[in-house]
Amino acid sequence: MTMNRKKIVAGNWKMNNTFTESMDLVRAIVDKTKGQSGTEKIIFPPHPFLKNIGEVVVNEVDFYTGAQNCSEHDKGAFTGEVSCDMLKSVGCTYVLVGHSERRQYFNETNEQLVRKIQQALNKQMKVVFCFGESLAERKRGSHFETVRNQLQDALGSFPKKNIGDLVLAYEPVWAIGTGETATPQQAQEMHAFIRKTISEIFSTQVAAQISILYGGSCNARNAPELFACADVDGGLIGGASLNAEDFCKIINSFG
Ligand code: PGA
Repeated sequence: MTMNRKKIVAGNWKMNNTFTESMDLVRAIVDKTKGQSGTEKIIFPPHPFLKNIGEVVVNEVDFYTGAQNCSEHDKGAFTGEVSCDMLKSVGCTYVLVGHSERRQYFNETNEQLVRKIQQALNKQMKVVFCFGESLAERKRGSHFETVRNQLQDALGSFPKKNIGDLVLAYEPVWAIGTGETATPQQAQEMHAFIRKTISEIFSTQVAAQISILYGGSCNARNAPELFACADVDGGLIGGASLNAEDFCKIINSFG
């Protein structure tokens, strides 16, 4: 990866662990990464734990919390939803938008994702935008087209002045939680294509600066060769982020 782009390793804890388990996990991660700068670390815990997890990481170097989801609405009668103002009020910096599990199980549409991105930006939050092709799309060879459409649909109206608040996460659906990882060649090929697409939507300068993370069964073993790819700037880690030792190894996987 290129020196002037931000390196990021983010842990998406999904719907796992109790409060006590989550606190033990974040404390173990903080202990192991104490004082380490250079790679930005983000934890995406379940909503109820954001405030307490945030208090553990707030004084650490390059360490932030993010929400796994946010409402597209400001506030009001939306039972069960969590607004960006609420997230910000507990110290949350980032929000994940477009994760394939939200697209698949909660039927989030491109229009909704655009509104969520807009809402997050309006509230001065940073967005990690997730996208990636399905197994069927990869098999029939339409993965580049899928990814280009996902980027264009969600980011076509993204304000260029906010580009510093956007991180991309390429997550091929066939690799998420399956133990099947994209090879470094597949990851690099797609990340280079994503950067080219971003240069078409925005500019070559924006494309050169934006961090593009890989996600999908990234672990302590395969992270070094994935992160060594020129256009891979870090990872969005699911399963392996639930183990402090593995997650910290991944954080230290940049050459
Ligand atoms: P995984 O999940 O690392 O368990 O495959 C990645 C993600 O969904 O962000």
